[in-house]
Amino acid sequence: MSYAIIGFGRIGQALAHAFVRKNIPVSVANRQSPEVLTPQARAIGPTVIATSLQDAVQADTVILAVPFEQHGEVAKILPTWQGKTVIDAMNSLAPLEEMDGLLSSPYAAKAFTGANYVKGFNHLIAATLATDAIVEGGHRVVFLSSDNNDAIAPVAALARELGFAPVNLGKLSEGGALVHARGRVWGPLIFQDVFKKEQ
Ligand SMILES: NC(=O)c1ccc[n+]([C@@H]2O[C@H](COP(=O)([O-])OP(=O)(O)OC[C@H]3O[C@@H](n4cnc5c(N)ncnc54)[C@H](OP(=O)(O)O)[C@@H]3O)[C@@H](O)[C@H]2O)c1
Repeated sequence: MSYAIIGFGRIGQALAHAFVRKNIPVSVANRQSPEVLTPQARAIGPTVIATSLQDAVQADTVILAVPFEQHGEVAKILPTWQGKTVIDAMNSLAPLEEMDGLLSSPYAAKAFTGANYVKGFNHLIAATLATDAIVEGGHRVVFLSSDNNDAIAPVAALARELGFAPVNLGKLSEGGALVHARGRVWGPLIFQDVFKKEQ
């Protein structure tokens, strides 16, 4: 299984730290060249590999850590996302009427044709997400939601590998609404730094 993080700002780098802690290789990319990104990637750890966007989207699992309004630019890189897992770590405070009345993830999912699309790793601020997910024997919870229940299992497995405790909230617009911004209001689970004893 190969992993890539698209967007190497606050949330992308926070996630890269999680991969490094578990020695899991991850590609990272943004619109800058890999040469420009490499020093920042290396500073996080030797298993963080700066690549081009074209190379990053070849990974089996692609994590979206770009500003929400940029998701379409990422989606356009591939003609189809069939067979890939896309993890949406983005948040949008845009009014719902700008998104055909949909929450941000169901709206963005439409651009990633064929993907196994899962929302996750979006509910904490980057500084928190960057710290060790295992604290005094407890595992930091990450909330996962998807309209394709089969898509959740591999993302939950990755979350466990990274030291988190995944919690499946169900469909994007049902349980997943708890970790969405609705218009200008944050969902009630956003910013809740919750721990579980067991993963
Ligand atoms: N910051 C947080 O605490 C936090 C918490 C939870 C969720 N989030 C969500 O995570 C996402 C990223 O937030 P952030 O705070 O990490 O933003 P950020 O620090 O501004 O980083 C954004 C990254 O995305 C890259 N990028 C922008 N447009 C791109 C494109 N079209 N293709 C590829 N890369 C692109 C940027 O690099 P270039 O412009 O050089 O390409 C940069 O590396 C947002 O959707 C945000 O809502 C953030």
